[in-house]
Amino acid sequence: MTQPLVLDIRDLTVEFRQGRRTPPLRAVDGVSLSIAAGETVGLVGESGSGKSTIGRAVLGLNAVHSGQVHFEGADITRARPRVRRGLSARLQVVFQDPYSSLNPARTIGQTLAEPLLVHRKHDQRHTGARITQMLERVGMPPDTAARYPGQFSGGQRQRIAIARALMLEPSLVICDEPVSALDLSIQAQVMNLLAELQSDLSLSYLFIAHDLPVVRHLSHRIVVLYRGQVMESGPSQTVYADPVHPYTRALLEAVPEPDPRVQRARTAARGTADSTGAPAVGGCVFAHRCPYAIDKCHSERPLLRPVPGGGGSGSAAARSAACHRAAELAAAEGATVPTTPTVSSVSAVSRVSRVKEATCSESE
Ligand SMILES: Nc1ncnc2c1ncn2[C@@H]1O[C@H](COP(=O)(O)OP(=O)(O)OP(=O)(O)O)[C@@H](O)[C@H]1O
Ligand code: SF4
Ligand SMILES: [Mg+2]
Repeated sequence: MTQPLVLDIRDLTVEFRQGRRTPPLRAVDGVSLSIAAGETVGLVGESGSGKSTIGRAVLGLNAVHSGQVHFEGADITRARPRVRRGLSARLQVVFQDPYSSLNPARTIGQTLAEPLLVHRKHDQRHTGARITQMLERVGMPPDTAARYPGQFSGGQRQRIAIARALMLEPSLVICDEPVSALDLSIQAQVMNLLAELQSDLSLSYLFIAHDLPVVRHLSHRIVVLYRGQVMESGPSQTVYADPVHPYTRALLEAVPEPDPRVQRARTAARGTADSTGAPAVGGCVFAHRCPYAIDKCHSERPLLRPVPGGGGSGSAAARSAACHRAAELAAAEGATVPTTPTVSSVSAVSRVSRVKEATCSESE
């Protein structure tokens, strides 16, 4: 994609203090990602992997320890509150729980008028027309404006939250699990709405979710996060259909497959991540769960590098993975990569690493 970048996050690190004697918790650890105009980047990972912290750092709600955040070409890493207020017209957010983000004591009309008031774009006639237009755009009737949040269902409230985010015509919307709390059929409707709005209004989205299947249809690219680090990134369909990184594979395996035979075959083909144990200190953060771990994985942190054959380096289509064995695993895509001792080199090293794991006493 040759569109200009709307968001460019470089080597972002966010830490939280945990008391005087305990070292700070590094919730985001050297994350780089960018979003072009009109593009959706899906940010996925299990609970606690740092997804929301990245979104909040972009919004200025979490302090940045190191690294930079550029929005529409300007460095906003440590933007002052006055600059932030100005930015909020172009940089918006939709949270998971629309009920807590909509003031129950205010009518929907009052809530939707708020951004216009803050940005001094309010005049009675224009505001009323804009509210009606946005409600219609998100599929809500005009009389919605006179009612209160408690009178709507979860899906309707999320539509209202989206309308509020779009009142000032932003270029980027951070969607932090916007459909996670909704029923499956409602999820699909809200996702379709977001897709329509994107194509009509040339919006960019940073779309945060737990599961790959949720983000894959809407996202152009996917970034997979684990313990604050990017494990894999690349075009949505490629990452979904042929994940290289063992963690991405584990994430997909966690998605329930209705046919047990398919599930068994998938697990056998990809190895199984064990969820017990502690991550290696100084090595790969996924080593304690990885069925492909080798000695090096426990001592040397793998850097995020282009996957051989995964698209041109530096291009939006490029696929990258932070894995010492990415090239081997990519070469074996679609085939079974055994993790038990057999004839392949992959399985041989895997056996060594398993013996090592069994005797490994590393702790966090
Ligand atoms: N304000 C805070 N103070 C201390 N620790 C925090 C704070 N916010 C987040 N954390 C910690 O940072 C880590 C990342 O949290 P974050 O909320 O970004 O994860 P997440 O990927 O969004 O998880 P979820 O999918 O559950 O929303 C977690 O260990 C969390 O406990
Ligand atoms: S670097 Fe090693 S431990 Fe980490 S994901 Fe790759 S093979 Fe597994
Ligand atoms: Mg979160």
